[in-house]
This record gives sequence, structure tokens and C-alpha cells, in this order.
Amino acid sequence: MKMKIAVLSGDGIGPEIVEQGIKVCKAIGAKFNHKMEFEEALVGACAIDATGNPFPDETFELCKNSDAVLFGAIGDPKYDNDPKAKVRPEQGLLAMRKKLGLFANVRPVTTFSSLLDKSPLRRDLVEGVDFVVLRELTGGIYFGKPQGRSEDGNTAYDSSVYHRYEIERIVRLACDYAMKRDKRLSVVDKANVLATSRLWREVAAEVGKEYPEVQMDFMFVDNAAMQLIQWPGKFDVMVTENMFGDILTDEASVITGSLGLLPSASIGQLTSVFEPIHGSYPQAKGKNIANPLGTILSVAMMMEYAFKLNKEAALVREAVEKSMENNFVTEDLSKVHPRSTSEVGDWIADYILKK
Ligand code: IPM
Ligand code: MG
Repeated sequence: MKMKIAVLSGDGIGPEIVEQGIKVCKAIGAKFNHKMEFEEALVGACAIDATGNPFPDETFELCKNSDAVLFGAIGDPKYDNDPKAKVRPEQGLLAMRKKLGLFANVRPVTTFSSLLDKSPLRRDLVEGVDFVVLRELTGGIYFGKPQGRSEDGNTAYDSSVYHRYEIERIVRLACDYAMKRDKRLSVVDKANVLATSRLWREVAAEVGKEYPEVQMDFMFVDNAAMQLIQWPGKFDVMVTENMFGDILTDEASVITGSLGLLPSASIGQLTSVFEPIHGSYPQAKGKNIANPLGTILSVAMMMEYAFKLNKEAALVREAVEKSMENNFVTEDLSKVHPRSTSEVGDWIADYILKK
């Protein structure tokens, strides 16, 4: 197969981890005889520095004309510490999501047996945890208008806005996921307080009628946050709005033992984007210590979702699992003998090639 992959490394540790992702893609290409073409473009703080725009038009064009996008991370402390900055790296990520119509962010949470003891939760709670969160990605409070500050600067406001069609399409997708899994779907909202959440409930219940086999339950987000920790094994598929999904997936990621492990796929109307869920980890930038596994597992999702290459995806996952079993992992997972980002990437690429 011929594949054109847009590479958006972004900021902080982005370039280092994406480099490992590309290594793994190339190993898969060599092993299974796929022709892969990679082309890089700017996004985030590095794009602001170079062009003044966190998501330049050329980057958008490249994404549109590619079969998939491999994305690293964005964010730079220079902007985090400047609340007055007019242009921010995060706007690049949000613009990309909006312009590519990436309305669904799929974040699978699975545990690896060799890592069970790394979780802050008890082993018996974590064993067998396997669920997927579908986070709505182009609506809600991240994009609602009006947003801003009053003239005197003493008041600020954000708006959470959802339209019926936005809820319908993601709940439908979540039901499709549930049908392929254990047929259980938790719709997470705050319907006791928020009007948008009440619309979510109404629309979700309607969509649910199209899927009589899916057992749908509704959960307030505060309760869901608690249950994720108390009983993570009970979830199968979870669907929720943009901001709740952002928060709950960070929470869910530590169940697996490291935030550095969680991959994601953002899918929608144009090219899909594959990225680890962690941020740009600026403290580690250039140190070759960040965990590349979230990115490498995102490559597995890319093989599966963008190219329907299930065997390739399975081999990437197997290689990742083996690296963990062999304790060939970065410092977040091994204090005794940590390996560098690139060593882990090399090990995994090598495993794939030799298999
Ligand atoms: C994520 C990130 C982003 C988000 C930030 C960087 C804007 O936290 O992808 O989860 O909030 O969506
Ligand atoms: Mg987040």
C-alpha cells in the first residue's frame, strides 16, 4: 500500500517522540512492503515563531492532502506563563481539529500485565481494565462563542454550546463502538446543572433507540470521575463532551501506569490525526528521556483506522508489549535501568523487523 503521512511534531518533546513513531512506521513499511512518504509541517509554538500562525495554511493543506497525520504535542511555557499572549500554541491544535472536522477523539484505555504494579491503583482494580473513551472534540466550551473578557478586564466568560447534530454523530459512533465490544455505553454529562448536558441526554436516548442491543447508562461527570478510580473495570465505552473528556482521559491514563502510554485517534470529516494524549512535557525537551510508547501506539491506531492494516497494528502492539516485558522502557516506567526515548524506539523497530 502507498501511504502519505503528514508529520506534525510540534513543540517540547514532540519531535523526539514522533521520530520514534516514524521509525516504527518505517519498520512496518519495510516488513510488510508498504511505500510510505512522510512530509513535515509546523504546528504550535514552533509555527508561531516561524510564521506567527499556530496552524499555518501550508500545514492545513498538507493535512488535507495526506492519508493520515502523525501528531506529537504542542505547548510552550513561554505562553503558559503569559496570560496576555494573543496567539497561543493551543490555538493551533484547536484550529486543526476544527478545520479537519475531527469531531471524535478515540482514547482506548487498556492495561499491560507487565505494568500492573506501576499503576497508583491496586492491582486487583486495574487487572483487565479495557475501555474506550469517545471525547467530542469540536464543540462545547472549547469553541463556544462568546468567549472573552469585559472591557474593564474584571470579568471573563466562556460559553458551552452544543447542537443536536454534534451530539448525534458522536453518540452514534459510540454506539457503533459498543456494538463491536461489550455493548455497554456510559454517557457522561452534568445534566443536573447544565443545559447542554440535558440536550446530550435527550439526544443520546434517541440515538440509543437505534441500537436496542446497547445497554446505555447516564452518569454525572463527578460521579464518573469517582467511579473511574473506584471501579475502572466496569466501563466498556464512555462518550462525553469536549471538556469532560479532556479531564477524564487524563485521569484514566494514570490507571495504566503512565500518562506516556495512551494513544489516541481523532477522526471526522477529513484526514484523521493520531497522537499521544500527553502534552509537550517541556522540562524533558531535548533530553531523550520521554516515553515514546503513546506515540508508537498511536501509530498502531493509524495502521488500523486510516489504512485498515490490522496485522501491522497488532505487530506494533506486540512489539510495545515485548519492550515492556523486557523492561526496556523509559524512566517513567523503570527507575532502575531506564532507557532513552530513541533506544526504546530502536528496540521496537528492531523487534518488528526481526519478527
Ligand atoms: C488534549 C490536550 C489539549 C486539549 C490541549 C493541549 C489544548 O490537553 O489533547 O487533551 O485540552 O484538548
Ligand atoms: Mg488533555
